[in-house]
Amino acid sequence: MLEKLTQIERAGLDDLETVQDEAALEAWRVAHLGRSSALMQLFNGFGQLSKEERPAAGQRANEVKKALEAAFNSRNEEIKQAALKRSLEQERLDVTLPGRRTPLGRLHPDTQILRELYRVFGDMGFQVYRSHEVESDEYNFQLLNFPVGHPARDMQDTYFLEGGGNADNPLVLRTHTSPGQIHAMREYAAGNPLNPPSVRIVLPGMVYRYEQVDARHETQFDQLEGLAVGPGITFSDLKGTLADMARRLFGRDVRTRFRASFFPFTEPSGEYDIECFLCGGKGCAVCGSGWLEIGGCGMVHPVVLQNGGYNPEHYTGFAFGLGTQRIAMLRYGINDIRYFWENDLRFLEQF
Ligand code: FA5
Repeated sequence: MLEKLTQIERAGLDDLETVQDEAALEAWRVAHLGRSSALMQLFNGFGQLSKEERPAAGQRANEVKKALEAAFNSRNEEIKQAALKRSLEQERLDVTLPGRRTPLGRLHPDTQILRELYRVFGDMGFQVYRSHEVESDEYNFQLLNFPVGHPARDMQDTYFLEGGGNADNPLVLRTHTSPGQIHAMREYAAGNPLNPPSVRIVLPGMVYRYEQVDARHETQFDQLEGLAVGPGITFSDLKGTLADMARRLFGRDVRTRFRASFFPFTEPSGEYDIECFLCGGKGCAVCGSGWLEIGGCGMVHPVVLQNGGYNPEHYTGFAFGLGTQRIAMLRYGINDIRYFWENDLRFLEQF
């Protein structure tokens, strides 16, 4: 029995010499210390030994078990250390390599100019009022004094939406931010219909037209509408407000001009132009004439005041609608409006 135990010990230790990895070590443990190993079989057979033989055999068997377990533990440690060393060598990090930059996002130039406009008009006491992009024909045109079939509708080629509204009042993608004037006035007037409060708001947002696209025309573009309604507001308030905006955005020496124009919802109406910085006012492919039209404007038509809930006998008002991409073009020297929504990073990264 004692000799057998010595053989078991020798065989186990010899085998262990060849073990190189964790899988082989586990196989070794099962073979030499597991339940069906020769050593454990011997332990199970102790019952058949005589009383005299049992103590010596038991003591020796325990010694062998401990020796094999100790050898297992130390081999296990060696294998782990070797694996650690290997991974340290093979997977070494070069901390001197420059890190990968996380690209930082930034605001789109149109958002930047809109926020600058909010600041400029905010300083003049205007609040931001947001309105719908999907409008009814009634709000987009009729309440703004464009009856059905009015020729001025031709200036705003319209996208109609299928499946909404009815034949007399279809749904449209708004062609301008002006329908927000009616929503805002009605909301303001609802609180006190007999004596509605004064209004001083700017209304930003995307508008849509079925346009021939070129360097200064897109099919979708942002406008910033302005509306001031109150007792005694005059055309000179409108001129002063737009002139102040231009000076704050472009500096004291900016050259601007008003041209007479026509909108059904303002009377009198005008267009507001800024001298084209892209060509220094000489005339170029973008502006054509040396001036870039940035917005329409005028005194709110009495019919529109009435439709908004304001009595034109007591209230007057001015309104304007600015093309914010046109303003950004002048501000940043962008010579083609099509860059704005092309999502070309080479363009966007410049702002
Ligand atoms: C209007 O849209 C009127 N609602 C503006 C207005 C508001 C007048 C309040 C009076 C009172 P107009 O179609 O001219 O007007 O457009 C206003 C501005 O939007 C233009 O001056 C121009 O700067 C810009 N704009 C017009 N069409 C385009 C287009 N296709 N692409 C880019 N910008 C445009």
